[in-house]
Amino acid sequence: MAVKDQVVTDEYAIYNGDCIEVMNDLPDESIHLSVYSPPFGSTNGALYAYSSDDRDLSNNDNYADFMSHYEFVVKEIRRVMMPGRITAVHCMDVPRSNSGKGDSYIDFPGDIIRLHEKLGFEFRGRRAIWKEPLAVRLRTMQKNLAHKTITEDAVSTGVAAADYVLMFAKKGTNPVPVTNEHGLLEYAGERQVPQDLWKYRNYEGKQTENRFSHWIWRNYASSVWDDVRMNRVLPFQDSKEEDDEKHVHPLQLDVIDRIVQLYTNEGENVLTPFMGVGSEVYSPVMLGRRGIGAELKESYYRQAVKNCEMAAKGMKDMSETIDMFGGPIEESMD
Ligand SMILES: C[S@@+](CC[C@H](N)C(=O)[O-])C[C@H]1O[C@@H](n2cnc3c(N)ncnc32)[C@H](O)[C@@H]1O
Repeated sequence: MAVKDQVVTDEYAIYNGDCIEVMNDLPDESIHLSVYSPPFGSTNGALYAYSSDDRDLSNNDNYADFMSHYEFVVKEIRRVMMPGRITAVHCMDVPRSNSGKGDSYIDFPGDIIRLHEKLGFEFRGRRAIWKEPLAVRLRTMQKNLAHKTITEDAVSTGVAAADYVLMFAKKGTNPVPVTNEHGLLEYAGERQVPQDLWKYRNYEGKQTENRFSHWIWRNYASSVWDDVRMNRVLPFQDSKEEDDEKHVHPLQLDVIDRIVQLYTNEGENVLTPFMGVGSEVYSPVMLGRRGIGAELKESYYRQAVKNCEMAAKGMKDMSETIDMFGGPIEESMD
């Protein structure tokens, strides 16, 4: 395998190399969940290039080449995934321009869905991650989100596009159900589980009475995740190199935590082919799963090494304080 560096521990295995080559070395059907953000394809290849490496998906000349390259990645994911299990892809509609007047979008999520269906996955739905319009305007300087558009020609007013998480299942029967005997135990998001429901946490009685887990489930099953903490991301600033066009945008840990909690059992293998600074490895490790990641760009990989070390240490610290809320509860749900 042509990897430049690697760290393999009991909790995670991370590689500085091309994801297609890294996945080539993983056994068939060994991955229980895959979760990742690919580079975002756009008219001139990807929205911006992370590196000048030919193996970098963001470094294709046009959208068609980008999608053909991405197809090789999805084929490898299909081979390494267990049947019936989920691959979750984080993406967004991609703007074709930023003129402020009549800008249009590429339906990147739609193309990802069609690609997965072509390669034998079932589309299992999407969740939108809501983003506050003014914050989007200030972060991206998207011209059609300036309020003055309303006064000058409101027809050009843009959308503060949501992110999406698309869920696909590899065809076949899942041989190992994902079970939560006492319901869901943690909520990842801005909202707080109401105080009066905490007594049901880790409820050992009839699960139809488990109001703590029921509250989390209602939020997680929603088609719009509107309380993801945008700033709950891993450190990434140090990974920028001098000639970089732009920073990597790490995926919010709330999003990954939810996907990992929903679709895996403890101890299972979670894969990200596009690891960036390590978010999709950090989250599973913190949740008692095993993370596997590949990242091509060396400076991001180095940051991922630090972030994954932090996760492994965090797990050890946490194991001393876990289960403060256990114990049977008498009241039932009304
Ligand atoms: C959208 S970013 C992922 C960020 C990540 N979710 C995080 O939280 O840090 C996409 C990443 O894919 C990497 N990448 C692009 N082509 C790759 C390839 N062929 N193999 C491995 N990584 C690649 C880029 O360097 C970039 O870090």
